[in-house]
Amino acid sequence: IEQGDVITTGKAKRLYATNDPELLWVQHLNQATALNGKRKAEIPEKAAYTNQISQLLFEFLNQAGIATHFVQRLSKTESLVQRLEMLPLEVVIRNYASGHFVSRFGVENMQVLEPNVLEFYFKSDALDDPFMNESQILALRLADTETLVQIQTVAHQINQHLKALFDEIDITLVDFKLEFGRTDAGQVILGDELSPDNMRLVDQSTGASLDKDIFRQNSGDLTIGYAQVLQRLQAKLGA
Ligand code: C5P
Repeated sequence: IEQGDVITTGKAKRLYATNDPELLWVQHLNQATALNGKRKAEIPEKAAYTNQISQLLFEFLNQAGIATHFVQRLSKTESLVQRLEMLPLEVVIRNYASGHFVSRFGVENMQVLEPNVLEFYFKSDALDDPFMNESQILALRLADTETLVQIQTVAHQINQHLKALFDEIDITLVDFKLEFGRTDAGQVILGDELSPDNMRLVDQSTGASLDKDIFRQNSGDLTIGYAQVLQRLQAKLGA
């Protein structure tokens, strides 16, 4: 496979075309952002962590029968993925209250959410990713009812698989964000990335954050947490 032109550069990843129109070359970047890009920092080694953790989690989900865009490892910071027509939605699942759920509803941090919570956001940097409900998604024709039901079902399945996996490596999966897209054949599958940039992970023995909250709260070296996550996943998944 050959790398082609840059298609787009996002906050944490750069996408390249390839010589196969159905495949994209994803390069993770060392940049960390918070407040929707308003705060930025260059963090050495971050790309190698987010990419390798994503690779392991996508492979894990693929093996569990959940379709994702992940195709092949290219390097420590690069992956080959299926090209998708992305839905402009962010799907958040919360098992415990944290972050915006706490600030929005005034509840206790880490309160158990049972049943767990699924939220949609409209993906728009200009609008700061506003909260969006199902009728808003339908009225704006961002997805149809069938697609929404499928996304919700798959998001809950992904949560069950990831929660169980992280539990086995003494990590609590607090919440996470997913993005879905449509293949050329019309199937809606999981895209984007799965890393501590997009999930809250708490070490069960120390209570320490192992995710981007370290950067958001300026509370230390983010890569120490990411390295813990990668190390434990590699040991567990035999990678
Ligand atoms: O900020 P909030 O509490 O809504 O975040 C919920 C989860 O979704 C967190 O794990 C966060 O990392 C993730 N998220 C994300 N990208 C966004 C918003 C939230 O990955 N734009």
